[in-house]
Amino acid sequence: MGSGCNYDGLDSFVKIPTIKFTKLFINGEFIDSISGKTLETIDPRTGEMIARVAEGDKEDVDLAVKAARHAFDSGPWPRLPGSERGRIMMKFADLIEENVEELAALDTIDAGKLFSTGKVRDIPVAASILRYYAGAADKIHGEVLKMSREFHAYTLREPIGVVGHIVPWNIPSVSFFIKVSPALAAGCTMVVKPAEQTPLSALYYAHLAKLAGIPDGVINVVTGFGPTAGAAISSHMDIDAVSFTGSTEVGRKVMQAAAASNLKVVSLELGGKSPLIIFDDADVDIAAQLALTGILFNKGEVCVASSRVYVQEGIYDQVVKKLVENAKAWVVGDPFDPKVQQGPQVDKKQFEKILSYIEHGKREGATLLTGGKPLGGKGYYIEPTIFTDFKEEMLIAKDEIFGPVMALAKFKTIEEAIERANNTRYGLAAGIVTKDLNVANTVSRSIRAGTIWINCYFAFGNDCPFGGYKMSGFGKDFGLEALHKYLKVKSVVTPLYNTPWL
Ligand code: NAI
Ligand code: MG
Repeated sequence: MGSGCNYDGLDSFVKIPTIKFTKLFINGEFIDSISGKTLETIDPRTGEMIARVAEGDKEDVDLAVKAARHAFDSGPWPRLPGSERGRIMMKFADLIEENVEELAALDTIDAGKLFSTGKVRDIPVAASILRYYAGAADKIHGEVLKMSREFHAYTLREPIGVVGHIVPWNIPSVSFFIKVSPALAAGCTMVVKPAEQTPLSALYYAHLAKLAGIPDGVINVVTGFGPTAGAAISSHMDIDAVSFTGSTEVGRKVMQAAAASNLKVVSLELGGKSPLIIFDDADVDIAAQLALTGILFNKGEVCVASSRVYVQEGIYDQVVKKLVENAKAWVVGDPFDPKVQQGPQVDKKQFEKILSYIEHGKREGATLLTGGKPLGGKGYYIEPTIFTDFKEEMLIAKDEIFGPVMALAKFKTIEEAIERANNTRYGLAAGIVTKDLNVANTVSRSIRAGTIWINCYFAFGNDCPFGGYKMSGFGKDFGLEALHKYLKVKSVVTPLYNTPWL
């Protein structure tokens, strides 16, 4: 037990669902991996195994790509009227909503996510993403072009083909549907590789896709490890596009593999070290609340976590006091318990990585204001942790920690805040807290990041494009921009009158 916050241990809230799906889903069937190998999926609340899941490798990816290729080249999905694809996707969304509790519980035992959040947010949001793109499926069209020469031309927007989706573990259900939904609406077929830490809900979604009437071969799910099954996707000669969310390090490998194989289209949603800037005119309670939730939501395992918080000098002491007070009262424990605000980190590797960053911060001379220790006798729980007096070159200020660890600093001027906020290789998101419109507008235009939240944080929406600048990647998720990632533009040209065609 730690002293930094409330720790509410395991026991009375355990609601482990029966695990129904553990095999690869290829061409509409659940099948074993060709090698017969399986991998363990672990409950981070205890470190114990939940189930063994098929371990797919290159040959399984080949099989899945073959099914997806066939479904694309000669199956009905890309040829259906968009309205019909939309109708089936709506049914898929309804089926998700009918199984909210079970799906939320699967993500809780696999990823350590709060069950209550899963029920009211992750799973309903997954269904809503499907519905957003279902509504777009019959609104895909090109343009008629009045060419400057005497030609008549128009563009067609065609599905890009077979897509590989490599999905992370931190928000398994939403990540799955951020990728799958626009690709389905576009008329693509796909191979999805969930993260090895969190395969369970993805396999359940494969089952629901079939029930909804999505034709065999359109969605294939290959569970397995990154360097084997994941790498087989990014280097595959018959996959037309790959969409990846995860670490910058692996994003680089995905891009290299795409370049070295068939030059497939790549989109990357990578990490971040997002700044939240709080100005003197901010309401202290609201600002502290935003900053703390910004780093502790989903135990800090969020690509846009507000891991660097800059507070203007006039209210710095008040914000620090409030932050530390609130961090100490933050409830860490079993994610099934409705009182709990923070569950365990996803796995032992992530737990140890976060603790080693904390040690680094202490060793390099940053001041630990609160937290810093693991919690509980078993499982991967960590105290909400706040460092201050850090230097910009310290690892805790530079690297994505992906855990409940905030780096907090004081600033004087707007110019200083902008400069420090931009002093990162990442550019995923940023937050600004101020009542002054001029300050908000100036700062939001000066920060090189894909999303700016003013007086809010985590304000995602299906219709609001999301994605990085700089080394946080490229290519947008959400919005119609994401639909266009899975479409190719074809130009069709014909002469008018007796135009000479050369
Ligand atoms: P990762 O980047 O290794 O994993 C993400 C996905 O990529 C998983 O499905 C994994 O199996 C796959 N993958 C791994 N190696 C691959 C390869 N060579 N080729 C193709 N696919 C591969 O991330 P990991 O190791 O789980 O976490 C490390 C750090 O990455 C975290 O601490 C965090 O900083 C960052 N991360 C960022 C995420 C985001 O949302 N931007 C999500 C997950 C991790
Ligand atoms: Mg990795």
